[in-house]
Amino acid sequence: MPTLTIDGKKVEAANGVTVLWAARQAGINIPTYCYYPWFPPQGNCRICLVEIEGMPKLQIACNTPIRDGMVVNTNNDRVFKARRGIMEFLLIHHPLDCPICDQAGECDLQDYGYKYGFPVGRFRHEKRTFPKTDYGEKIAKEMNRCIHCRRCIRLTEDYMGVSHIGAINRGDHTEIGSFIEAAIPSGFAGNVIDVCPVGALTDKKMRFSVRVWDLEHVPAYRSDCEHGCKVLLGMYRGRIYRVTARFDEYHTMKSMICDECRFEHFNLDDWVLEEDDIHTPLQKRVKVPKDD
Ligand code: SF4
Ligand code: FES
Repeated sequence: MPTLTIDGKKVEAANGVTVLWAARQAGINIPTYCYYPWFPPQGNCRICLVEIEGMPKLQIACNTPIRDGMVVNTNNDRVFKARRGIMEFLLIHHPLDCPICDQAGECDLQDYGYKYGFPVGRFRHEKRTFPKTDYGEKIAKEMNRCIHCRRCIRLTEDYMGVSHIGAINRGDHTEIGSFIEAAIPSGFAGNVIDVCPVGALTDKKMRFSVRVWDLEHVPAYRSDCEHGCKVLLGMYRGRIYRVTARFDEYHTMKSMICDECRFEHFNLDDWVLEEDDIHTPLQKRVKVPKDD
């Protein structure tokens, strides 16, 4: 098994895995946007740049395979400066509207913005703006916030098998959309909300109703769901505000759920809460009357 050094720590990992994978196994966090565990790496956002000794330029951790004896630095000044540059570009057109964005509190752009972003933007150009549109009745689209990571496109093409959305136009006019602004024709379309790392695709049902840090996340499932979806109920004061996917590495759908579970069951009685599951066999003890 190859052994490499990441931030001074010796790490053993299987042949063929990426630097990102090896680092995460060792508990070292590297920021990512376009990387998603179930999609082939695309390497388009560049936020995961790391320094590898012997290589003149910084490399992306999500698509660089490990080698025996590799020495990787994920957290020095050079790496920090590069990531700060990436963040500055990503935020040129971003509206910075976190106070009214439903993703605030669980947004990767917000989190890494605090860590790597400049306190004041240096670009003075007018920000691009796109008209507000939707994917059907359930998914709100706010393309001013999109960072073009293409996770949503890869999800629909590779996992749902529908080539219905894509990147339209070029440069800073690039917009993710369907050609006729129609709903995504799949019973799993709502998963684009979960894979979007920013607030570009959000759940219309929950819009502006509750902040995510107020939600309690309750593991549950529906006994009559034909896909066996495992979900987290986003609850506040006893009411369900949203339903999101719960990762299960043994489930064929990993972290995907069907639209019926996500959008159509907001009554607590429709769900089985995992805390109510029976984990040990129940044993009935019968008292046998003694013979006189
Ligand atoms: S809509 Fe979201 S998932 Fe799709 S490309 Fe934009 S940021 Fe990425
Ligand atoms: S996460 Fe590595 S390039 Fe986007």
